[in-house]
Amino acid sequence: MAEGRRADIGIVGLAVMGQNLALNILEHGFVTCIYNRTSDKTKEFLNAEGKGKDFMVAYTLKNLVDSLKVPRIVMLLVKAGTAVDEVLSKLVSLLEPGDVIIDGGNSEYIDSTRREKKLKAKQLLYVGSGVSGGEKGARHGPSLMPGGNIEAWPLIKNIFQSISAQADGAPCCEWVGPEGAGHFVKMVHNGIEYGDMQLISEAYHIMKQVLKLNNDAIGEIFEQWNRTELESYLVEITAEILKFHDEDDQSLLDKIVDKAGQKGTGKWTTLSSLEYGIPLTLVGEAVFARCLSELKEERMLASKCLKGPDNLTSNYPTCSKEEFVEDIRKALYASKIISYSQGFMLMRNTNCAFGWKLNLGGIATIWKGGCIIRSKFLGDIKRAFDREPNLVNLLFNEFFTEAVHSCQESWRRVISYSVLLGIPVPAFSTALAFFDGYRSSWLPANLIQAQRDYFGAHTYKRSDHPDEPVHTDWTKSPSKQSPAPAAQP
Ligand SMILES: *[C@@H]1O[C@H](CO)[C@@H](O)[C@H](O)[C@H]1NC(C)=O
Ligand SMILES: *[C@@H]1O[C@H](CO)[C@@H](O)[C@H](O)[C@H]1NC(C)=O
Ligand SMILES: *[C@@H]1O[C@H](CO)[C@@H](O)[C@H](O)[C@H]1NC(C)=O
Repeated sequence: MAEGRRADIGIVGLAVMGQNLALNILEHGFVTCIYNRTSDKTKEFLNAEGKGKDFMVAYTLKNLVDSLKVPRIVMLLVKAGTAVDEVLSKLVSLLEPGDVIIDGGNSEYIDSTRREKKLKAKQLLYVGSGVSGGEKGARHGPSLMPGGNIEAWPLIKNIFQSISAQADGAPCCEWVGPEGAGHFVKMVHNGIEYGDMQLISEAYHIMKQVLKLNNDAIGEIFEQWNRTELESYLVEITAEILKFHDEDDQSLLDKIVDKAGQKGTGKWTTLSSLEYGIPLTLVGEAVFARCLSELKEERMLASKCLKGPDNLTSNYPTCSKEEFVEDIRKALYASKIISYSQGFMLMRNTNCAFGWKLNLGGIATIWKGGCIIRSKFLGDIKRAFDREPNLVNLLFNEFFTEAVHSCQESWRRVISYSVLLGIPVPAFSTALAFFDGYRSSWLPANLIQAQRDYFGAHTYKRSDHPDEPVHTDWTKSPSKQSPAPAAQP
């Protein structure tokens, strides 16, 4: 190895994300050393996308480590799971206290927490970073969610904030929190993405089946919505998808089998919300809606024997099409506010669950650009947390309170008509049910407590003595009414 020249960062793993991040980092002026366990992979890359680029190259991990400036920064882009642990076990013996290891893969946050703690004991600074935006993002500006050992942040900040996407002049990269926080935040991002996609699909369903609009017309509407509060990447691509014509000039969308796949991040977000008792109902419904869609064969059978409501004229919206489209837009906006409120509730709860105080305003900034859920709306969320860093719930912020209030009537109308017409709107309706529950100072949970105490002596608390659990023998009511006298024959 040539004396003198040292790399700012080493990249381990040259699958597509590793390649694109390496190119992105290099083009931002950082000396970058690349490594892959299979040297053929490295050579292939240097003959293709990496051709003519000024990379430093290492063919062993030791070479890689030796090529780096101290403190060393090594970023892993290998498959989540055991592959990460394998590379780590080799790296640990080569690195020195104060060096940084970043995992930029799709690791589960629990693994990142475990690794951060283990490496901290060896004085190595571990960072688990969510990377969003896919291949294109990695190449031209991803949204980056680093978390872990905060001592690493000053060392990696410049590289990270240089290569990330920028939105309104701010980098879409901030430190999010300790331990596995980076991967946790990425997981919540993906959960919210599931919710956004389901909400958009429900809006499409209603426009298609209630308003009988064709795909071009619906695409036109999404394009208009992209110029409102709903301006976002997902609304934008939806407009393009709806207007896309196949070679025979028919809509391609109509030819796609209606079974939605999933890779598990929505499920993980939901499991985590169940584990910590945070009602992330919208992501849950979005995951289940995909599961239901998968049961295509059963649905085909059911569609022949299970009847929906009669097609009564009186069940159709009485307003004009334009007015109803605006109702749907508002229903989508209000539901989206609920979904993000729920997502931020889960992230806020990490304070109780793991003692992590996450940088919530920073997270909104990160998501504003580069990632799949990027939108104008995240700017409003950022402003809400700037004004009140300890905001308990987005719905308490004046801007969002007013937004939900102004959408409320439309939202209820859209759900009511959908129910009357037999159109499933699980995400719209769970969002409204959450809103109605959250704003209720009283809920019928007193009855549930009584039932639990009746059959299982689980005890309950009385409003007049809220600190003492009590149990009642419900079969012996002290003031039981004496039975009404039997009617005289
Ligand atoms: C090497 O590259 C392949 C793909 O080209 C990738 O799947 C793998 O994770 C990389 N592994 C390491 C340890 O470099
Ligand atoms: C959606 O809005 C963004 C931002 O204004 C714009 O860049 C994009 O071209 C719009 N997309 C469509 C399909 O209208
Ligand atoms: C249901 O009724 C509406 C309004 O009368 C009509 O436009 C529509 O075509 C009917 N749909 C079906 C499936 O019969």
